[in-house]
Amino acid sequence: MKKENEYFEALFSDMPDSPLAGASLGLVSAQDSLMNAMFDQSKKMIGSMVEYKELMMMYTCAMKTIKTKFDVLNAEFKVRYQRNPIKFIDTRLKRTTSVMEKMERNNIAFSLENIEAHIHDVAGVRVICSYLDDIYVIAKALTEQDDVTFIAQKDYIENPKPNGYRSMHLIVSIPVFFSEQIKHLKVEVQIRTIAMDFWASLEHQLKYKQENPNGAEIAAELKECSEVISNTDTRMLEIRKKIEINSGKPTEDEVLFEKLRKFDVAIE
Ligand code: GTP
Ligand code: MG
Repeated sequence: MKKENEYFEALFSDMPDSPLAGASLGLVSAQDSLMNAMFDQSKKMIGSMVEYKELMMMYTCAMKTIKTKFDVLNAEFKVRYQRNPIKFIDTRLKRTTSVMEKMERNNIAFSLENIEAHIHDVAGVRVICSYLDDIYVIAKALTEQDDVTFIAQKDYIENPKPNGYRSMHLIVSIPVFFSEQIKHLKVEVQIRTIAMDFWASLEHQLKYKQENPNGAEIAAELKECSEVISNTDTRMLEIRKKIEINSGKPTEDEVLFEKLRKFDVAIE
């Protein structure tokens, strides 16, 4: 700003007779304060953008921390019980436009404090399991960990949404360790079976694509499929249990032999 002042002063000092010369000082100070105000504004804006980006970086790390917890549980199950309860894990950071849209929808002023306090799904982790019972085992194993604070649960499996949506939702908070601070951040965890996920991704298309003239008919068909899927999930679990029972309880030696047989199985 000082440089610009000097520039204007130099410009006018060359023209002592100019009608503008007398006004030069006033012009310079008006210009100066306008520039200062603009600079302050953009400085604040850039500062906020940097802080927002930092907060998103922190949520990304929280998401990675939760994903690692599930990877650890899966690795343990694989070696200990020769079974992977988790088929795959997806993570997603909520887009800025979606954060803004949700805050507007819920009448919350846009600020970093309000994002942390009111938007629980900035960081999202989706866990896909093969069987229904795995969902509850995985949910329990996560929420019982010492550094995980349970905030809320929505069991859309026990209580499906009217459209047929089924899934287990958890909101948890975890501490994430950065170089100069420990930040406690919320993460939304959705745990569902492969079949539930298949259904939800198709239903999502119906919801977010443009108005469909056959919308009502498709919704009814989806609802029907959701019931078929729910029955299939239950039956698949029952079949698995029957197989487990019929193969009898393995002896200690058999368990040890099975572990040895899978000794070289890759641990991702
Ligand atoms: P959002 O504002 O959408 O985040 O919903 P909410 O805060 O009321 O939470 P809820 O637990 O109901 O839903 C959270 C997320 O679950 C959504 O963002 C979707 O990813 C998923 N979800 C919830 N309901 C449905 C549904 O009916 N269909 C599909 N496909 N996904 C759903
Ligand atoms: Mg959401």
